Amino acid sequence: MASVGTIDRDFLHQAVRLAMGGRGHVEPNPMVGCILVKDGRVIGEGFHERFGGPHAEPNALGACAESPTGATVYVTLEPCCHTNKKTPPCVPALVAANVARVVVGCVDPNPQVSGRGIEQLRSAGVQVDLVEDDCCRQLLAPFVAATVHRRPYVTLKWAQSADGKVAGPGGKRVRISNEASHRVIHEVRSRCDAVLVGIGTVMADDPLLTVRGVEPKRPLLRIVLDSDLRLPMHSQLVRTIDQGRVIDFCSKEAAEYSGTRAALASVGVEIHSVPSDRPGRLNLENLLSQIARLGITHLLVEPGPALAQSFFACGCWDRAWVFRSPKKIGGPTAPTAAEPPANAVAQTTIDGDVLTEYLNPNGIYFGPFPSADFTWVEAGSGKSEFRIPETRIKSE
Ligand SMILES: NC(=O)c1ccc[n+]([C@@H]2O[C@H](COP(=O)([O-])OP(=O)(O)OC[C@H]3O[C@@H](n4cnc5c(N)ncnc54)[C@H](OP(=O)(O)O)[C@@H]3O)[C@@H](O)[C@H]2O)c1
Ligand SMILES: [Zn+2]
Repeated sequence: MASVGTIDRDFLHQAVRLAMGGRGHVEPNPMVGCILVKDGRVIGEGFHERFGGPHAEPNALGACAESPTGATVYVTLEPCCHTNKKTPPCVPALVAANVARVVVGCVDPNPQVSGRGIEQLRSAGVQVDLVEDDCCRQLLAPFVAATVHRRPYVTLKWAQSADGKVAGPGGKRVRISNEASHRVIHEVRSRCDAVLVGIGTVMADDPLLTVRGVEPKRPLLRIVLDSDLRLPMHSQLVRTIDQGRVIDFCSKEAAEYSGTRAALASVGVEIHSVPSDRPGRLNLENLLSQIARLGITHLLVEPGPALAQSFFACGCWDRAWVFRSPKKIGGPTAPTAAEPPANAVAQTTIDGDVLTEYLNPNGIYFGPFPSADFTWVEAGSGKSEFRIPETRIKSE
């Protein structure tokens, strides 16, 4: 650790930015970036570009403008050494390239690999410095969720008014967040594998749950939590099944006895059952492990107050993003937002809406990060487009 300086961290963070190029293409693998440096100059760089494709290290070695002999390698994740996979291991490739030193952002969290890549490099005479850098680790959050916790990384997001309401009187849909916040929300959806809502929201809002106005990075699975299989055949979700899969998680009883099951299945809605903790409360741990088995690494939950409360109560959430509008809604029958049981870690303003981030200290959490680093990058002239950093460093 002592031999890692500021310059090393800067190169490592350059590799983090590169790694983010793989977002949406590498999952369920982690995003990984790699840079080779000689005499302070970058001589080659690469990242893991797509699932099943070459890893960051061979891409960077292959892109070298000069011999990598004696170079320092900055790689966001411990190089792999296992052979039971699609691509050849990276440790022998780095050894064969005669690199002098490898600065590793973090160890591979997969217990079957963890530390062995570093050991093999050292025993081949390569100097290895392990940093355990928070940005590198944050990059792995969905991968850690999948490989270690057997559940997806869970982001909760909702919008609330200045007086804490999430809908109008009687639960009627009203627009709460502004146009710019909406774009951010679609950007967030585009980075996830699946979006989940409760049946209460389907009944009240009839949402589409698609990605609009942003190029989707991967197909978005749409999931409804619906104990009694009440999902209406005329709902937008069912009517747009050709725009993306819809999965309905219901109770074991409804899966067996509900009359709507056959009708929903006949139009392509996929139905899975989950044990209930009590009526109207499907077991969220079981739900999340089933969702992980579907290959989902990052789940966006857009909960009403009841569902948000359940996620907070079971503790199986990682981050919550709350968009607060300056407008009031009022009315005693307007539903009131849940309160995240964690301290706010970051905050930013989006055209007057305030977005606050909460991280679950008992979730997949690599903080603490200074809130000043939670920055939105405005891009393009005259167009307010927001880029959301995957980690707490700017993506450009
Ligand atoms: N402002 C926003 O960002 C936002 C976002 C979402 C929703 N909303 C608003 O919130 C309101 C709906 O909220 P809601 O709280 O009534 O409904 P919800 O959170 O959308 O869904 C709750 C329903 O999901 C089902 N469910 C199954 N397992 C559950 C579990 N473990 N925990 C909690 N619910 C479970 C239950 O219905 P079953 O027993 O029938 O399965 C429950 O009534 C609407 O007015 C909507 O407009 C606002
Ligand atoms: Zn590798």
